[in-house]
Amino acid sequence: MSDDLKKGLEGVLVAESGLSVIDGDAGELVYRGYTIEDLATGASYEEVLYLLWYGHLPDSDELEAFASEMAAEREVDEAVLATVRKMAEADENPMAALRTAVSMLSTTDPASEDADPTDEEMNLARGRRITAKIPTIVAAFTRIRNGDDPVAPRADLGHAQNFLYMLNDKVPDDVLADVFDQALVLHADHGINASTFSAVVTASTLSDLHSAVTAAIGTLKGPLHGGANQDVMEMLKEVDDAAMDPLDWVKDALDSGRRVSGFGHRVYNVKDPRAKILGERSKELGEAAGSLKWYEMSTTIEEYLMEQKGLAPNVDFYSASTYYQMGIPIDIYTPIFAMSRVGGWVAHVIEYIEDNRLIRPRARYIGPDPSETTFAALSER
Ligand SMILES: CC(C)(COP(=O)(O)OP(=O)(O)OC[C@H]1O[C@@H](n2cnc3c(N)ncnc32)[C@H](O)[C@@H]1OP(=O)(O)O)[C@@H](O)C(=O)NCCC(=O)NCCS
Repeated sequence: MSDDLKKGLEGVLVAESGLSVIDGDAGELVYRGYTIEDLATGASYEEVLYLLWYGHLPDSDELEAFASEMAAEREVDEAVLATVRKMAEADENPMAALRTAVSMLSTTDPASEDADPTDEEMNLARGRRITAKIPTIVAAFTRIRNGDDPVAPRADLGHAQNFLYMLNDKVPDDVLADVFDQALVLHADHGINASTFSAVVTASTLSDLHSAVTAAIGTLKGPLHGGANQDVMEMLKEVDDAAMDPLDWVKDALDSGRRVSGFGHRVYNVKDPRAKILGERSKELGEAAGSLKWYEMSTTIEEYLMEQKGLAPNVDFYSASTYYQMGIPIDIYTPIFAMSRVGGWVAHVIEYIEDNRLIRPRARYIGPDPSETTFAALSER
């Protein structure tokens, strides 16, 4: 066996997938043959979920049936909500709270713990339930933390619209609902990224879907992955609060060897196409509010980093100012990423385990050889 070490598994192919493909040099992203630009402007998050899970875009009857099945699953069991309440009152990190709550969803899931983990129908139903309930958990957590009562989901609203309704106790206007729905479409899948890989690794042991999604949430939480969107907004706020020139901030960050969140990518060598779309939405929201402050600060940083380091923005860079201008609390940006990416996690798990092989890489051992050590039992040490 070749002993080529692939640190970070860079460039390693671990599966065949019909779900999504990235052209990192051209800056293109495609879900099941459809460009992200077409899906972002012409399909809702529910349509994209259907595409990822069932392999084709739904016709109007299929979409109506699917959307109402999803909407019927939004309620979250009282015991889970009570745990969410405790975590919100204890000021738990929102991603940690989501990870715990999603894990707990298995306790009330109608599919048995003993169900065949490769049963596609069962996994699709479970995936639907988990995906439908995540927004309810995130909105309840956020409201309780602010001293407000949770708002029950409404089955007559779309997935994106209903989340904003539960978050603010107010049906969002069409622009906000549309921007949010588009953000969910843009984040829904992205090849075998770190959190998706986590989900697939877990599923490859023939564990269950709740375990796979819980593992993925833990992986998304990190600042090198989903956690970057929160860090971006904190950086922009820091620059603004200190009335600094963004260029001074970014120069200082680079000089002190820090990474600038929202820039760079393992697969893209050019600007992430999702950042292009969200950058436009961020600009539109700024224009509507009469201030391009966040957008202009962002483009200044973008131009500098491209010029100096050849680093282009990724999706997290412009989702940050987009969500901020929508009035969404900064520390739930990553849970919102999870709210969308769960669609990809479920799709990849189902696809992978159809032709499952346990994922089990190896490490090159660099520890001591037994010839270099002398063992002594505890009593003799
Ligand atoms: C996403 C990320 C982890 C990809 O990392 P990777 O493929 O392992 O790339 P590397 O860590 O090997 O970085 C390659 C070079 O670019 C630099 N670089 C990468 N991203 C950078 C960033 N955001 N800011 C500053 N420098 C960066 C690295 O320092 C490294 O430079 P060097 O070769 O001089 O040491 C990385 O770009 C990053 O940390 N970005 C910030 C976090 C982020 O936005 N994550 C969300 C991704 S969607």
